Amino acid sequence: EAWRPGDDDERRGATGPVRVRVPAKVNLHLGVGPLRRDGYHELNTVYHAISIYDELTARRGDTLTLTMEGEGTGELALDDSNLVIRAAHALAGYAGVMPHARLHLRKQIPLAGGLAGGSADAAATLVACDALWGTGLSRDELAGIAADLGSDVPFLIHGGTALGTGRGEAISPVLARPTSWHWVVAIADGGLSTPQAYRELDRLRETGAAGPALGSTDALLGALRQRDPRVLARTLGNDLQDAALSLRPSLATTLKAGEAAGALAGIVSGSGPTCVFLTADAADAERVAAELAAAEVCRQVRTAHGPVHGARIT
Ligand code: C5P
Repeated sequence: EAWRPGDDDERRGATGPVRVRVPAKVNLHLGVGPLRRDGYHELNTVYHAISIYDELTARRGDTLTLTMEGEGTGELALDDSNLVIRAAHALAGYAGVMPHARLHLRKQIPLAGGLAGGSADAAATLVACDALWGTGLSRDELAGIAADLGSDVPFLIHGGTALGTGRGEAISPVLARPTSWHWVVAIADGGLSTPQAYRELDRLRETGAAGPALGSTDALLGALRQRDPRVLARTLGNDLQDAALSLRPSLATTLKAGEAAGALAGIVSGSGPTCVFLTADAADAERVAAELAAAEVCRQVRTAHGPVHGARIT
């Protein structure tokens, strides 16, 4: 029998606020296969969660409301096109409860940056509302709802480092001895549209202007096991990078500047325009970040480490 928040008999769910922290992701390997009939591309990817976070707080309410602060939130619609609102409705529909909550989002992950910020917020909403409403879904059930919200959303529930297949929604964890990788993140001015980046890759491939496809993740997975950033640096790759560079040629300057600043390797993150640079260690990341900031080739430079946990109650 469906339990509803606000029923007289409130046995389930949190009474105080539920706060969830959710990371950004980068793709260490983003292999893009052919365009499928459903409009998605078949992917062969290795996701990696890094220490740049959004935070979502859920409180009891009489309707569903969302307020936001931070990175670029002025541009975000507060209607049903917002992934947070859609995630709350999807969970409530699945669990048979009313979608009533007061949600507040603090954003640090840039919008449309290729770091899956919107997907992260959807993942955080599922985890937060599940606790607030006491719906008690398993991680697998949440991942199922997550997949309908976006290809990256299941990964942001899991976090860590994981293989993604299908359209990116089928996740299996990569088991490796604990190692931290140290990154410098170059955040660009403005965003890039993910569908547009995929379309540009299709166009480049049709005209023979795209580089060879990456293919298997084997080399990258082997490199992760070796725990040597110099080895990992040689295996990073992103099939969407040519598309992002074609749409935003200035990213080539950003990538060159990061390598000139001493990064081991730099790649465009997901569909861009954020560029991420692997460095030897935490101290090196600080040095590279300072030099990259001085080069003035992007809006903001941050350091981050990974892997970190997926969406979690704090
Ligand atoms: O899954 P999500 O809604 O995040 O995807 C946004 C868009 O990115 C899709 O509508 C599609 O155009 C493109 N995409 C794709 N292949 C994937 C994932 C996303 O073409 N595997």
